[in-house]
Amino acid sequence: MEKKIKNFLPKKSPLFIAFLILSIISYLIYFNFFLITKNSKQNTNYNGTMLFKNYCASCHTYDKTNSYSDVGPNLNNLKISSTEIKEIILNGKGNMPKFNEILNSNEVDSLLKLFQD
Ligand code: HEC
Repeated sequence: MEKKIKNFLPKKSPLFIAFLILSIISYLIYFNFFLITKNSKQNTNYNGTMLFKNYCASCHTYDKTNSYSDVGPNLNNLKISSTEIKEIILNGKGNMPKFNEILNSNEVDSLLKLFQD
């Protein structure tokens, strides 16, 4: 087994070894980059769910986030537009508190994304 590998590698070829090491390093960098972009995408979705659990789940049922409460209306089949949802989140409605001083615009956007797909 070891002999076979030794025979396969060209002997005394520092250029070949350097090329081999470079390829391995580039592969690792590429693979890492791939992992990082994949993770940051997951974080965006995760954020919306986390935000919902922290700020909305105490009152609303929304299956997507495994949240169940009937203080406020069920949000599973919302018929209102994204603009209206944003308006309600920012300024509240009836017994729902307003969140304009609690959530920043990125957080509101993450929440809105939850309702989009
Ligand atoms: C203290 C309880 C409470 C919390 C917390 C709360 N809501 Fe509400 N929400 C309500 C109530 C009550 C209503 C109904 C208001 C009305 O129509 O008078 C409502 C209405 C809504 C509506 C409109 C539903 C419809 O069918 O028209 C949306 C969308 C909504 N809430 C989203 C959210 C989001 C997103 C959060 C988290 C940022 C949140 N709510 C947090 C109580 C709450």
